[in-house]
Amino acid sequence: MRTFRAPGRVNLIGEHTDYNDGFVMPAALDFSTWVSVSPLEERKLKIFSENYGEEIEVDLDDRNLSARRRWSDYPVGVAVVLERAGHRLRGARLQIRGEVPIGSGLSSSAAIEVATACALTANSGLKIDPRELAVLCQRAENEFVGARVGIMDQFISLFGQAQKALLLDCRSLEFRLLPLPDNVRLIICNTMVKHALASSAYNERRAQCEAGVKDLEKFVPNVTALRDVTLEQLEAHADGLDDVVYRRCRHVITENARVLSAGEALEQGNLGRFGELMAESHRSLRDDYEVSSEELDLMVEIAQKVEGVYGARMTGGGFGGCTVNLVADTRVEEFKDRVSREYERTTTLRPEIYVCTAANGAEEVF
Ligand code: GLA
Repeated sequence: MRTFRAPGRVNLIGEHTDYNDGFVMPAALDFSTWVSVSPLEERKLKIFSENYGEEIEVDLDDRNLSARRRWSDYPVGVAVVLERAGHRLRGARLQIRGEVPIGSGLSSSAAIEVATACALTANSGLKIDPRELAVLCQRAENEFVGARVGIMDQFISLFGQAQKALLLDCRSLEFRLLPLPDNVRLIICNTMVKHALASSAYNERRAQCEAGVKDLEKFVPNVTALRDVTLEQLEAHADGLDDVVYRRCRHVITENARVLSAGEALEQGNLGRFGELMAESHRSLRDDYEVSSEELDLMVEIAQKVEGVYGARMTGGGFGGCTVNLVADTRVEEFKDRVSREYERTTTLRPEIYVCTAANGAEEVF
């Protein structure tokens, strides 16, 4: 039996830019999903989830496998997409255990996809370039599960490194690893609220960006994604755009610029500047992209008042979920106390607070 681990992630800055061919800056977390695998004679998958206490079985030669709106869609989707891409799999028994909080925007889905992909390919004696593997896991979510996510989560789950943030160009898939100073912690605050329409609202945002590209390509040469448009070009053609589409585009274009500036700030060890960019990112997500929520805004507002906080913003797709906070390591206890107390007082919800460091990407564990 072999065991593989793949982590969840937190995004420091660069939200809703990945599916616009833009820039993102996630870090892998020390929360993971583990998949143990052993071969089966028949071309079947027997998959047991420890979290759900449930086993499912599928036939790898069944051409009609489809999503059933449950946990097993992720591992089955990965198997289906690998096979469709021409990677013939051996039968396998898989046992899955996840510790990434589910449905809170820390990419429990990418963690299960990537850990399954590593396990299935190793079990079948296949060596697949990790960039290709990231794209295949994304495809499993796009085509099998039916969520039109970008490449960020699967990529960082494979390529993350301890103590580093990763600045990814989502068009070329080139990246730079940037050092996170030893004396800061990534603190993630879970609002404990998840809005029901999150996935349809996510797909709607994507469609609005695509509408923006369609409008802008009439005026600006060589535009295939919002990545190709500058703020000046957007402003010059604002009259030709519906107001909502204009604001969606403005978020993506300014957010891309913020990621690049944040990369420079981190390289210079300028956490003050990094924190300002996080605050601007949050405002833009709240006002222009409209994917924040009352609870996320409150959590950010409380955090920004605590001593030792460099920056705070919502993280991930939005509509509930978590905030990410860059906090001096000497202020962690005070931060936890104040944020949980004030958040609970206003909302009556008790938040979960995770003090994290950036971790390594997927690997085989012994
Ligand atoms: C989700 C998706 C990512 C990305 C973020 C928003 O996490 O899975 O691909 O689009 O939302 O930045």
